[in-house]
Amino acid sequence: MGVMDRFRLDGRTALVTGGSRGLGRAMAQALAEAGADLILVGRDPDALAAARDELVNLGRRVDVVPGDVATPDGAAAACDAALSLGHAVDVLVNNVGGRRLDIATEDFPLADWQKSIDLNLTSALVCCQKVGAGMLARGRGAVVNVTSIAGPIAIKGIRGRHYETAKAALAALTRSLAADWADRGVRVNALAPGVFATGPNRRWFADKPDFRRLFVDHIPMARLGEPDEVGPAAVFLASDASSYVTGATLVVDGGFTCW
Ligand SMILES: NC(=O)c1ccc[n+]([C@@H]2O[C@H](COP(=O)([O-])OP(=O)(O)OC[C@H]3O[C@@H](n4cnc5c(N)ncnc54)[C@H](OP(=O)(O)O)[C@@H]3O)[C@@H](O)[C@H]2O)c1
Repeated sequence: MGVMDRFRLDGRTALVTGGSRGLGRAMAQALAEAGADLILVGRDPDALAAARDELVNLGRRVDVVPGDVATPDGAAAACDAALSLGHAVDVLVNNVGGRRLDIATEDFPLADWQKSIDLNLTSALVCCQKVGAGMLARGRGAVVNVTSIAGPIAIKGIRGRHYETAKAALAALTRSLAADWADRGVRVNALAPGVFATGPNRRWFADKPDFRRLFVDHIPMARLGEPDEVGPAAVFLASDASSYVTGATLVVDGGFTCW
């Protein structure tokens, strides 16, 4: 098999949580361009329908599953709905997550802490359990957990370390699950984005230009990432191109964590 063929995903199905917008949408498009059929999960049915209508133009099957994976029960229900479509899921991208709150750690309400852990960590665990069961039974699969550079480091100028804690734990879950599932044909890796020019970030930086400058000055490549720059990394981790890679975190950050 030629080297570029190893990146192909023809005949495989990829489930992407949060696949309707942002980095999830960009990764879904890249996976479909590599040949994968898609199942996209998100809360807003209209956003899902819009993504589906665009992505079917790539010639792949695109199913959408409205669901909220912010709670363990919600994540389980979304996975059950996705699996009830009857397609064997070969690739799981646990992409939903986020910081959401900017409250100092010393004041951080425990209820919000738990919500962040559920959103960023437990939902990925539940999806790994639900979707991973079929992968383990078939002896084949690739999981890509979307972590963050805020796992290994604390992001300067932002308060509340619920996000850093949850993403670091997701990286730890990735490593340990990779070890447990390695001899059963299922690889588990993490993709850690730096700071990207997604819609919400663009709006946030428009309100806080000083903050944008702080980031850009810190990034060796001196710019934010464009969402389509995570797509090839996701294809690498999802495909046989990374057949001997498991338990790894692929950092896509323009060098942010070099300094
Ligand atoms: N953007 C960055 O610069 C950056 C940097 C480092 C790490 N990350 C990580 O990358 C991932 C994606 O980030 P993003 O900025 O692209 O996220 P985003 O813009 O907040 O969300 C993108 C997608 O997630 C869906 N979504 C959000 N909450 C959901 C929920 N509870 N249940 C189901 N779907 C949900 C959204 O659709 P609906 O709103 O319709 O549900 C949308 O499809 C996150 O894990 C984030 O922590 C992002």
